[in-house]
Amino acid sequence: MLNLDHHPSGRHFLQIPGPSPVPDRILRALSLPTIDHRGPEFATIGLKVIDGLKQVFRTRHPVAIYPASGTGAWEAALVNVLNPGDAVLMAETGHFATLWQKMALRLGLAPDFVSLPGTCTTTGLPLAWRHGVPTELIADRLRADSSHRIRAVCVVHNETSTGATSDIAAVRRAIDDARHPALLMVDSISGLACAEYRHDDWGVDVTVSGSQKGLMLPPGISFNALSPKALEASKTAKLPKAYWAWDEIVEMNKTGYWPYTPNTNLLYGLHEALDMLLGQGLDTVLARHRRWAAGVRGAVRAWGLPVQCADPAVQSPVLTGVITPVGVDADALRRLIHERFDLSLGTGLGKIKGRMFRIGHLGDCNDLTLMATLSGVEMGLKLAGVKLAGSGVAAAMDFFAAPATQEATPQPMAATA
Ligand SMILES: Cc1ncc(COP(=O)(O)O)c(C=O)c1O
Repeated sequence: MLNLDHHPSGRHFLQIPGPSPVPDRILRALSLPTIDHRGPEFATIGLKVIDGLKQVFRTRHPVAIYPASGTGAWEAALVNVLNPGDAVLMAETGHFATLWQKMALRLGLAPDFVSLPGTCTTTGLPLAWRHGVPTELIADRLRADSSHRIRAVCVVHNETSTGATSDIAAVRRAIDDARHPALLMVDSISGLACAEYRHDDWGVDVTVSGSQKGLMLPPGISFNALSPKALEASKTAKLPKAYWAWDEIVEMNKTGYWPYTPNTNLLYGLHEALDMLLGQGLDTVLARHRRWAAGVRGAVRAWGLPVQCADPAVQSPVLTGVITPVGVDADALRRLIHERFDLSLGTGLGKIKGRMFRIGHLGDCNDLTLMATLSGVEMGLKLAGVKLAGSGVAAAMDFFAAPATQEATPQPMAATA
C-alpha cells in the first residue's frame, strides 16, 4: 500500500490554496463501488449533481462537467465559443491569468493582455500581481473597440497565485456601458463555494471551475457554467473541438448521463460535497471563509509582513499571500516549515516565486486548523530568523475567540502599493 506518511504521528496540514483537505465524509463516498454509468441508478446521481452545481454557481442554465483538471475546462471554455484568430481581452492578475493567456495564444487566438503598469515601491513586485482586474483598463479597451473585434473578455475571479479577487459585476458593467457584444468568461476555479459568486446575476457567459478547492474534492473534475448567449455562440464557433464540445454533453445531461464515461467516483464525492455545502447553506459557508481570512490577515498584520494583495477591498476569502522580507527565500521557509511541522503552504508562482508564500484557508477548515497553521508559520518564521513585529498567533487567538455570531469585518490594511 502507498505510504505517504513521512511523519511519525498526527495528520498532515494541507494548507495550500487547493487541492484543499478532503473531508472524511467525502473520502468515504469516493470509495463506494463504481456502478454502470449507463444504468438507472447513475441517472439519479447525475441529475442531482447537476442540479446542486447550478445552485452553487447560482445559475439556471446548463453546467458541463468534465473528467479533467481546471486547465481542461479553461480550454473547453475557449474552444466552444471562439474562432481562430479571434481577439480576446484578458487581464494580468497573476500566474493563472498568465497561463490562461498562454493557452489562448497556443489555440491561435489573439489575446490583448492588459496589465496595471509599474512595480510596487516598497516590495519591488509587479503592481498587477498585487491587485484585482484593472476594470478601468478593460473599459478603455472596450470603448476604443468600435468595430467590435474583441470577441470575449476573460478574467480570473480569485487569482490563486496572489490572493486577490476581482469585481466581476464591475467587468460586466464595463462591457454593458461600452455597449459591447463581447462574451464575459470567468475563471472561478478557486473562488467557487468560497467567495461570493453569481453566474446569472453578474451576466457571466462562461464560468470555469474545478473540484479541488471550495468543493473539497480531489482534483479531476472541472466545470463550464454556461449562458444562453454562450450556447448560441457555440453553434457557429470554428475552433476545433470534439471532446470538449458542449452540445452532446448538454443534451445527454438532461437525462443524467454523459456522452463518454464520466468520473463516477468523483461524482459520488461531488454529490456528498453538494449535500454538505447546500445543507449548511452557501451563505454560511461563504461567511466562514470571510471570517477565516480576516483572522489570518490579522495574524500577518501582527507579524508586520505585507499581504500580497495590496487592495483591502479585494483581499481573498480563500487564501492569503504573505510577502517575506528581502533576503528571506520564501521557498526555503516553506521547506523548513514542512520538514519541522508537517505543514504544506503554497509556493510563490511565476513573477513572485521565492518572494512570498500562500496560506490556504478554504474548504474543510476550522478555527483550530487555522490556529495550528498560523503557529507552524510563526515558529518557522522565527526559526528562519525573521524579525517579527509581534505575535500573529496571539492576534489570531483573540480574533477567533471573539463571539462566533459576529460576522467578521476585515480591518482595513494600510495599502502598501
Ligand atoms: C485560478 C486557477 N485557474 C486555473 C488553475 C488550473 O487548474 P488545474 O491545475 O486544476 O488544471 C488553477 C489551479 O490551481 C487556479 O487556481
